[in-house]
Amino acid sequence: MLVQIGDIHFPELDREMRPVNDKDPQFPKILSHELPRTSLEVILTHLLTHLNQAPTAVLLAGDLTSNGDLQSYKACLQFLRDRTPSNLLELSHGQRVLIVPGNHDVNHALCGKENVTDKFQPLRAAVEEFGFPALAGSGVTGGRVPNDSEIQLLTLGLNSCLGCGERRQYRSEVEGIVSPHLPPGSFLSGNLPLHDELDLPLVSEAHFSQAIDQIKQSPASCLPIILAHHNLLPQKVPRLAIYSELLNAGWIRQGLLELKRPVLYLHGHIHDDPIDIVESAHSPRARIVSIAAPPLAPTREGREAKSGFNVIRVFYSRHSLPIGCEVELVRFVKWGRMAAEKRRIPLLPREDSYAHADEASRSVLEKVPMRPEFLTDLLERCQGHPDPHMTPETLAELVEQLEWLGLVKLEDREAPLVNRQVRRV
Ligand SMILES: [Fe+2]
Repeated sequence: MLVQIGDIHFPELDREMRPVNDKDPQFPKILSHELPRTSLEVILTHLLTHLNQAPTAVLLAGDLTSNGDLQSYKACLQFLRDRTPSNLLELSHGQRVLIVPGNHDVNHALCGKENVTDKFQPLRAAVEEFGFPALAGSGVTGGRVPNDSEIQLLTLGLNSCLGCGERRQYRSEVEGIVSPHLPPGSFLSGNLPLHDELDLPLVSEAHFSQAIDQIKQSPASCLPIILAHHNLLPQKVPRLAIYSELLNAGWIRQGLLELKRPVLYLHGHIHDDPIDIVESAHSPRARIVSIAAPPLAPTREGREAKSGFNVIRVFYSRHSLPIGCEVELVRFVKWGRMAAEKRRIPLLPREDSYAHADEASRSVLEKVPMRPEFLTDLLERCQGHPDPHMTPETLAELVEQLEWLGLVKLEDREAPLVNRQVRRV
C-alpha cells in the first residue's frame, strides 16, 4: 500500500474550518470542542489510520509551503514529523518516505545562480534536519521497498522544479526602451538585467537518465513508481502563462513508453485529481498511469477545492508480476465527512492476459460461465478440479487474478464473498 499526499501549502491551511453555519465571531471558545471537528482534524484522523497500517511508502508531492517561505516549510516538516509513525522513518526499512520539491517551495531570491540545483540546498538541509530521507534535489532519490520482501516497488523521486524561479532576460533593445519608464528598483535588483521570473517546470536530463537506468536494472516483478511535483499531461484548465507546463514532458513520456512496461507517475501541483493512462501503438506493453493527488486539506483561499489523499494498492499475479493497481480516492466532503471511491487500473495488455494466467487460474476460467454465477456455485463445480480442497478464499483470489487480466468480470465486488457473482468477459 502506498499513500500519496499532494500539495499542503502549510501557511494557508485552514485550521479553523468547521461544518457549522457560523454567524457569531464572538462564540465562546470553550464551547468550540462541543462542535463538529475541523476539516483538518477529520482529514488527519483518516490519514493517520492509513499511516498506522504500515504503508510500503508515503509519497509527498511537494509544495509543503508557499512563496518559498523556508520557515513555513520547516513548520510543515515538523507538523508531518509529529504525525509520522517512527517505523516509517527507520532507514533499515529502505526509503519509506519520499519528498520532492514543489515550485512553491523554491525561494526565488536563490535563483539565477550558476548551479541550478543550489536553490534546493536549504530545502534539502531542512528535510535532513527533521529526520526525513533525502529530498530529490540534485539527483534521483528513493529505491526498492520494502527491502525485506521478494516483491518490491521501485520508488523514484524526481525534481521537476529546476526552472522554477529562473530568470528570462528581456531583449536588450526592449530593456533600453522600457527601463527609463519603470519605477526605481522594479525587476532591477543590483546590476541584474531587466528580467521576468519564470515558474518553469523542468526535469534534468541527467536525473531522468538515472531514473531510467534504475528502472532498467530492476526485475519485471518490481513496479516503478515515479514521484514528481508537476503533471506529465497538460491540465484540463487552459493556463495563460509562459512555460507553465512541464517543458520536457513529451521527452519523459517517450522515455517511459520505451521501457515497454507499466510505470506509475504520481504528482500534485494542479490541485485536482485526474487519473490518466498513456499508451503507445509502438510499445504495446508500455503503460504510464498518471495519478494526481489534490491538496491534503482545504486552504483559506481554496475552501471549495478538492482535498484529501490517495491510497494506492498494487496487485500481483501468481508469477509475481504487477497486474493491476487500485487507487482509493480518500476525499474530504462538505460537512465534515470523508468519502472514498476506488478506481481499478489493469497494468498488463489484454492480448497477454492468457499467457499471464497460471494453471490453476486457467482451470477455473474454463468453468466460468458467460452469465453471472455466484462464487459458491462456481466453487462446487471447481472442487475436485483443479484443487480437491479449494476454499472460497482461494477461489476468490484466482477469480480476482482473472479479473485483473481482463478475462472475467466480478459483480458486487464489495459484497460478502458468498454473494459475489462472476462471469466470463
Ligand atoms: Fe505547485
